Amino acid sequence: MSTFPAWIARKDEDNRIRTTLEEAETSFLDDLDVTVQVHYSSINYKDALALHGKPGVIRRTPLIVGIDLAGEVIASRDKRWHPGDLVTLDGAGLGEELHGGLAGLARVGGDDLVVIPDAFTPAQSAAIGTAGFTAALSILALERQGVNPNDGPVLVTGAGGGVGTVAIAMLAQAGYEVIAATGRPDALCERLTELGATSIINRGELNTDRPLARQQWAGVVDSVGGPTLAGALAGLHNNGAAAACGLAGGSDLPTTVLPFILRGVNLLGVDSVRTKPGLRRDAWERLARDLNPEHLDSVTRTVLLKDAADAAKDLLDGHGTGRTVVQISE
Ligand SMILES: NC(=O)c1ccc[n+]([C@@H]2O[C@H](COP(=O)([O-])OP(=O)(O)OC[C@H]3O[C@@H](n4cnc5c(N)ncnc54)[C@H](OP(=O)(O)O)[C@@H]3O)[C@@H](O)[C@H]2O)c1
Repeated sequence: MSTFPAWIARKDEDNRIRTTLEEAETSFLDDLDVTVQVHYSSINYKDALALHGKPGVIRRTPLIVGIDLAGEVIASRDKRWHPGDLVTLDGAGLGEELHGGLAGLARVGGDDLVVIPDAFTPAQSAAIGTAGFTAALSILALERQGVNPNDGPVLVTGAGGGVGTVAIAMLAQAGYEVIAATGRPDALCERLTELGATSIINRGELNTDRPLARQQWAGVVDSVGGPTLAGALAGLHNNGAAAACGLAGGSDLPTTVLPFILRGVNLLGVDSVRTKPGLRRDAWERLARDLNPEHLDSVTRTVLLKDAADAAKDLLDGHGTGRTVVQISE
């Protein structure tokens, strides 16, 4: 393969980022150890930003965008990886400071690659992608803090999105009672219930000026931030924990120290990009254990590489639902 298709972000003469689908030479890639023929990528919120030239994701130009990839190793200087290995990679700088996965070919370091578990096809591993991987990391973070199914329900915010849908399905499979908070309760009630949510609340119900409210849940997976996270913290049980992984609703956190000092609640940060290799493998093992591929398929749509930017618009508008897989070859 001397050339390959790739969504490439470049700066224009006004210093604005423009991302377009191009045919790239293999020499465009960095000199890293493992070459992967990419079969699938996905669209996360960060990819939507990068595909539409929005700031906050792209740290160098020109850059192939795409924070996830799933595909087959075709060459390797790293003894741990061999041609034919089916691998997936989420974050680790892809599509931010390293050339990413919205392309036919990628060259990456060997440390953060993960073998696609037998439970999933390469397309399903891309459907999981950073969003699903982050849902798994969030659940592991809550459990490391001591949360378990006997403690009470877990609240999932941004329930209709990529992180939210995978978190609901995994938590329910692991025996948790799941409360889903969404801005679209009518439209998504049936789908979220099928994934395993036991009750659905309108995310507006979480908005409160009070830092402490009725204690309703033992854990929180929050991909929204802002007043939603503040309200989620206010409703935590004594010694409960919230895993904060996103800012779909804002990066502020309008609360006080009261939930922390009067109820001992714990706010846990989740960063999927710089996750260490051992924890990456743990998260994928957990996904293989608790994510029913049929549930994943029920919230996944597939688009072609050429349609990735159009498909990303829904996420930017806050209307994304579930996961979007990008199929590289037609
Ligand atoms: N920390 C990490 O490593 C990491 C990894 C992955 C993702 N993230 C972040 O997590 C967030 C979610 O990612 P995602 O892939 O799940 O995105 P997504 O598919 O676009 O889902 C986000 C969901 O948040 C809700 N939402 C959207 N706009 C909102 C608003 N203005 N106020 C309140 N809720 C809103 C919507 O759910 P409802 O309509 O159901 O309310 C939407 O479906 C993003 O901020 C992303 O950058 C972080």
